Amino acid sequence: MNLIPDVLYADQESTTWLIVGASRGIGLEFVKQLMARGERIIATVREQWASHASALWGEAGNDHGRCQMYICDVLSEESIVKFVSQISAIPNLKIDYVVINAGVLRYPCRSTEMSFEEFAFHLHTNTIGPIITAQKLLQSQIPIGTIVFMSGDSGSQAQFREMEDGFAAYAASKAALNMAIRHMAAELKRKDDDTIILAMHPGEVNTDMQNVGVTWQVHGVITPEESVSKMMDVIQSKGIQHSGTFWTYENQPYPW
Ligand SMILES: NC(=O)c1ccc[n+]([C@@H]2O[C@H](COP(=O)([O-])OP(=O)(O)OC[C@H]3O[C@@H](n4cnc5c(N)ncnc54)[C@H](OP(=O)(O)O)[C@@H]3O)[C@@H](O)[C@H]2O)c1
Repeated sequence: MNLIPDVLYADQESTTWLIVGASRGIGLEFVKQLMARGERIIATVREQWASHASALWGEAGNDHGRCQMYICDVLSEESIVKFVSQISAIPNLKIDYVVINAGVLRYPCRSTEMSFEEFAFHLHTNTIGPIITAQKLLQSQIPIGTIVFMSGDSGSQAQFREMEDGFAAYAASKAALNMAIRHMAAELKRKDDDTIILAMHPGEVNTDMQNVGVTWQVHGVITPEESVSKMMDVIQSKGIQHSGTFWTYENQPYPW
């Protein structure tokens, strides 16, 4: 029996967004703003009943299925594959924008001190999980317009942030993500695949991740509301000629 509400099927009026990692912070804010705009949303969390996801479940429940919730833990290939196969079963589904937002920072994670496990945890969550999630989506039959990866200024090689003491594993995982993103865009171009691949720096955003108590002054901290509303404009302004590029929430190109 088909339980998917009509609202998730393609129409000309609204777009469909997939937000991977939507339980709190920037991901939750995407869901809130997209719901307010009347768009269709597929949102993933990794624990259906997690107390911090309750706001999202509340929002979703109030809107007659415009926001569909799924489980996806990017640390688990099995979870990613199961999620992609579940949404692949939605008839006529087309996704205009995928935002792969899931990420972790276990602060501090210094190169001179971190354990093998700590480094692997950052790489698995911030690099391998996001890339494999995108890969499985691209291998599905679902037409996809744009895939956006939530990268960050810490991952820039060209603009190395030397003062970020305690960020080594996180920064390395985002730098590795950036390189894999560029290769993904180049591979798709060679295959004449028109899916647009973008990396975003969301700004210094006031979320749980930002509030880890760093010892230096973080300048220009913005709200999730400002970051997401500006990122949505940036994302929607990009075409295939921009695939494989890196942008700030203020629509400035960011150096890799
Ligand atoms: N905040 C900033 O200033 C900033 C700056 C640059 C880049 N970013 C990037 O922006 C993204 C969102 O950050 P945020 O500030 O919103 O962080 P946050 O408040 O800590 O939220 C992180 C999100 O990622 C999800 N997540 C973590 N591990 C996951 C996994 N294994 N599978 C699926 N989801 C997982 C979390 O889910 P749970 O609730 O289940 O833990 C949560 O929804 C991250 O990729 C981050 O690196 C943030």
